[in-house]
Amino acid sequence: MSLVDIWRNRQRGQKPPKGIKIMTTYHSDALVFFGATGDLAYKKIFPALQGMVKRGHLNVPVIGVAKAGWNLDQLRARAHDSLEKHGGVDPGAFEKLSNLLRYVDGDYQDLATFTTLRKELRDAHHPAYYLAIPPVLFEAVVEQLAKSNCSKGARVIVEKPFGHDLASARELNKVLLGMFDEADIFRIDHYLGKQPVSNMLVFRFANSFAEAFWNRNYIDSIHITMAENFGVEDRGAFYDQTGTVRDVVQNHLFQVLSNLAMEPPAQSDSESQRDEKVKVLKAIPPVEVKNLVRGQFRGYRDEKGVAKDSQTETFVALKLEIDSWRWKGVPVYIRAGKCLPVTCTEIVGKFRKPPTLIPDSVLTANHLRFRLNPDVTIAMGMMLLASAEAMSLQAREMVASRDPHSGEMDAYERLLGAAMEGDATLFAREDYVEEAWRIVDPILKEKTPIYPYVPNTWGPEQVDLVTPPGGWDNPSVGQDELSLAKQAA
Ligand code: BG6
Repeated sequence: MSLVDIWRNRQRGQKPPKGIKIMTTYHSDALVFFGATGDLAYKKIFPALQGMVKRGHLNVPVIGVAKAGWNLDQLRARAHDSLEKHGGVDPGAFEKLSNLLRYVDGDYQDLATFTTLRKELRDAHHPAYYLAIPPVLFEAVVEQLAKSNCSKGARVIVEKPFGHDLASARELNKVLLGMFDEADIFRIDHYLGKQPVSNMLVFRFANSFAEAFWNRNYIDSIHITMAENFGVEDRGAFYDQTGTVRDVVQNHLFQVLSNLAMEPPAQSDSESQRDEKVKVLKAIPPVEVKNLVRGQFRGYRDEKGVAKDSQTETFVALKLEIDSWRWKGVPVYIRAGKCLPVTCTEIVGKFRKPPTLIPDSVLTANHLRFRLNPDVTIAMGMMLLASAEAMSLQAREMVASRDPHSGEMDAYERLLGAAMEGDATLFAREDYVEEAWRIVDPILKEKTPIYPYVPNTWGPEQVDLVTPPGGWDNPSVGQDELSLAKQAA
């Protein structure tokens, strides 16, 4: 069979022979989103769709699917309401979006729903199916798509959480790969859609000076903090089944860590980049129980949907190692939690102290700081002379970027656009998600203690058990940062 035949067959929806990978370059000619009446659609998807229309990136039918007994007018009203609350209605863009919208109402287990969907797709042959629904429904939807002749030539976009542990992630991969090629599966981690997360790679690989110090010879430890100053809001039932490790560490923070630690890819294509990320995870041994502290904020058990004797963590601090040529011996400390004093995600790479005659106690270690939110900052911490007379030193920061990122494309908009173009760079690959689960799987299975903490503090006092030498740097968010963040919103 010639390559042209394989390509043509691929376009018709047939899989290429085993071992042959075909790069897909077509643009999806319809977007179908399951869970159209749900929370994610309300908060994120409609604003992203309006943004895409506004930029001229979306001009194909958008079909919402849900089981709500609704009609198209009700979906349009919901979209309008969503936009009023999340980002604002742009009358021109909204009108165009309304004209692109279609709606299919029905049960995800019922083949009739998918037969109707096939009719609604009309002449679209390369739809993108976005599963913005709970993972327990993925299998049913994917099976019905195949049975109803909807899956040929299609892509599938899958929301997080991708599995609950290593075994369930493998199972989910098996289900998806039973119906779709890996090249057509787009596993969402919205952190990958954030510009400052991509900027970490640009800072590292577009600046030759950065390469010189970003390794075990100069860096002493890496600290990653994802703090949120709010609780579980109306998501108690979901959160109680999930906990902080599954909710943000295994996905968002490991993606951040991969960007920090990966080697420069040999080429700029999606697979070369994703290969390097997988290599980072492969070099990380499973987290040991002794390197983990779990906390739960006081009052969590009174939240709606949370068990009265819940053992779920709302805070975690852990230490891991990357046994690679570049990073061996440099501990990585990760800390994340709800009801902490501020909302801020920040990464600090601490340098080794120099061998100077100045007493160690007077020196603050240099650092490189990436702040992802609320403001976007890249800064280097250094020592300077404060007073020549007193020979005293001061620690100061050189700020490279302090960007309110106004006008910045929202993460979901970027990701949906990329998936519809078939660009997998910003999505988690099959082997990546499984490696990420492998690292945390043992600590999820062990019954480790859960320590209470007072809301608005930096976690339980036992956090000292997993604390970097010199302690955690608690990010402060002042008025300046808040006003930068406000400009960006
Ligand atoms: C989600 C988690 O994936 O990410 C939430 O489920 C968390 O619990 C959120 O609050 C944080 O995302 P962002 O973009 O606000 O930093």
